Amino acid sequence: MQTELLRNYDLFFEKRSFENYSYSLVKRTNLDNDFLLSSHNTDFKFEQIDKDIFLGNGNCVDFMTRIKSSSVDLILTDPPYNLGDFMHKRKTNLIKMRENQFAYAGWDNLSNENWIIEMDNFFKESSRVLKKGGSLLLFMSLMKIETIINLASKYKFYYKTTGVWHKTNPMPRNMNIHFVNSTEAWIYFINDGTSGTFNNDGKMVHDFIETSLTPKNEKKFGKHPTQKPVKIISHFIKHLSNENDVVLDPFMGSATTGVCAKKMNRKFIGIDLNKEYYELSKKRIINE
Ligand SMILES: C[S@@+](CC[C@H](N)C(=O)[O-])C[C@H]1O[C@@H](n2cnc3c(N)ncnc32)[C@H](O)[C@@H]1O
Repeated sequence: MQTELLRNYDLFFEKRSFENYSYSLVKRTNLDNDFLLSSHNTDFKFEQIDKDIFLGNGNCVDFMTRIKSSSVDLILTDPPYNLGDFMHKRKTNLIKMRENQFAYAGWDNLSNENWIIEMDNFFKESSRVLKKGGSLLLFMSLMKIETIINLASKYKFYYKTTGVWHKTNPMPRNMNIHFVNSTEAWIYFINDGTSGTFNNDGKMVHDFIETSLTPKNEKKFGKHPTQKPVKIISHFIKHLSNENDVVLDPFMGSATTGVCAKKMNRKFIGIDLNKEYYELSKKRIINE
């Protein structure tokens, strides 16, 4: 095979049994990026949907093994909050509320023990793929903040800030019997260092952000039950990364992070377990 052609392929060498070896030539996913390992015969192949945008449909930790060590500048993500199982078991007569809980959407029903194992694996792999001094910011329910900080601290993460997202127009669920839920937390860490990119233009940035719920015009390609508004995601991309940086969202949902990263000239890697949300992500990134 000509050298020119070979440059586009990886030679894979697989040991099938003790004395039996097989060789295969597999086309590389792409040749232009310096953050993905070239793909071989695995189920965890990224799909390139734009020049610097790669998406994977499957378990994030599996796909993250295909990302080069110390190659990502920012992980901005929104994992399951592990509220589905909790809400489902609650002794309440508010059955409708329990059944409609967005968290019980099918992808947030792990037991607490299994969720902790998954999050532990996520932090371990995140620390490997992030550059030294890279940032990780994740959304979380306020109930889980301490658990998350403890897990992250097992690896190289330095805890910086817990902040709040205040929704100005929350669903007024049962407003006459309790305080209406209108907040979510976000937690910010630095990998292997104590400070990283922070583009504040010399101005003070508060640890809370207020926006309305995700507007309808951001849902024209389909719905995701916990889609974040572009306004909040672009706020974090602006402050925690620079143009041409690599941004990763391992729990991308409908790819709000990808849409913002593309508009703000960042490279993007996104992963989601769910096929429907994966297809929605592609549509949004290509068309928005
Ligand atoms: C809270 S949603 C993210 C919403 C997103 N921020 C948006 O704006 O659309 C979490 C997503 O994580 C995905 N997910 C859950 N477990 C996962 C896993 N182990 N690996 C990859 N994705 C996962 C779910 O399918 C869901 O779409």
